[in-house]
Amino acid sequence: MSSAALSDLATSSRNDFLDDVLAGLSQSQKSLSPKYFYDEAGSDLFEAICLTPEYYPTRTETALLAHVAPALSAWVQSGCVLVEFGSGASDKTRLLLDAMPQITTYMPIDISAGALEPAVDRIKDAYPGVTVVPVEADFTQPIATLDLATYPAVLGFFPGSTIGNFTPAEAAAFLKAARAMLGPKALFLVGADLVKDPAILVAAYDDAAGVTAAFNLNVLKRINTELGGDFDLAQFAHRARWNASDARMEMHLESLRDQIVHVGHHAFAFRKGETIHTENSHKFTVKGFGALALASGWTLVEQWLAPDDAFAAFLLERF
Ligand SMILES: C[S@@+](CC[C@H](N)C(=O)[O-])C[C@H]1O[C@@H](n2cnc3c(N)ncnc32)[C@H](O)[C@@H]1O
Repeated sequence: MSSAALSDLATSSRNDFLDDVLAGLSQSQKSLSPKYFYDEAGSDLFEAICLTPEYYPTRTETALLAHVAPALSAWVQSGCVLVEFGSGASDKTRLLLDAMPQITTYMPIDISAGALEPAVDRIKDAYPGVTVVPVEADFTQPIATLDLATYPAVLGFFPGSTIGNFTPAEAAAFLKAARAMLGPKALFLVGADLVKDPAILVAAYDDAAGVTAAFNLNVLKRINTELGGDFDLAQFAHRARWNASDARMEMHLESLRDQIVHVGHHAFAFRKGETIHTENSHKFTVKGFGALALASGWTLVEQWLAPDDAFAAFLLERF
């Protein structure tokens, strides 16, 4: 990409960020999209969350995928392209590449250049026989550069329970868009966290060392540095709540006093105790996920569950 095109891309992402922040902070329940957590610092903090003792999803899904990958190999034809949504550090990818030499091309898609670039270098070094085609993009938007028509087989991969960040309607819209993007030959492996004891969930999103709190507050730091905001980070506190009626963990940033915050020329009033809703992490049941897939043009053809039904890997096929 030329430097002019890169600069246009940076300007349009900044404008999208600004528009989304102004719209989100203007709602009666203030909110920010979780996709804005992930600048370079946010991606590093996410990797640090994965290492906390409370955050079970990463180690549980990684152990599960070690079993899934050899079983999945029987489904995957040679010359396959692996397309990963929200690839982050691409650590789980290695389990698939190790078990399936028939994957000859890897396309990681991530919104965070800070995560994508080092991950791509590591995969290229470790798998010299695999062609790596990085895509820095927002996977909730159409991706014009994704051309999969020439590949004999396509395997989509969406680990990390990132699908849980969507509302049910957004998840269905994403699965439909992924179906169109991945094309007629696609299989899609999706990792999803399952409903469980709320005490385990709340601890996972509010670790004792405060790494998740720093991750949550990082979005305010980004607004300050990239959009000319004046959030005082000491006046907002991380909160993690289980919302039983919507079967989701929620992360919020709670204002610790009445205050006015500016983003550029725009002013936003906060009452003490008012929150900005920054993330949902929906938890699924096997039945509920199957219904979501079906409503989105996919059949659930195989499922693998971690011990104690802590996490699931779902294999979807287009119909
Ligand atoms: C929860 S992390 C999961 C990372 C990794 N796949 C894993 O399983 O550990 C979510 C990843 O998705 C990326 N991401 C979040 N929203 C995105 C979006 N709208 N478009 C592209 N990437 C996104 C983030 O940058 C981050 O790397």
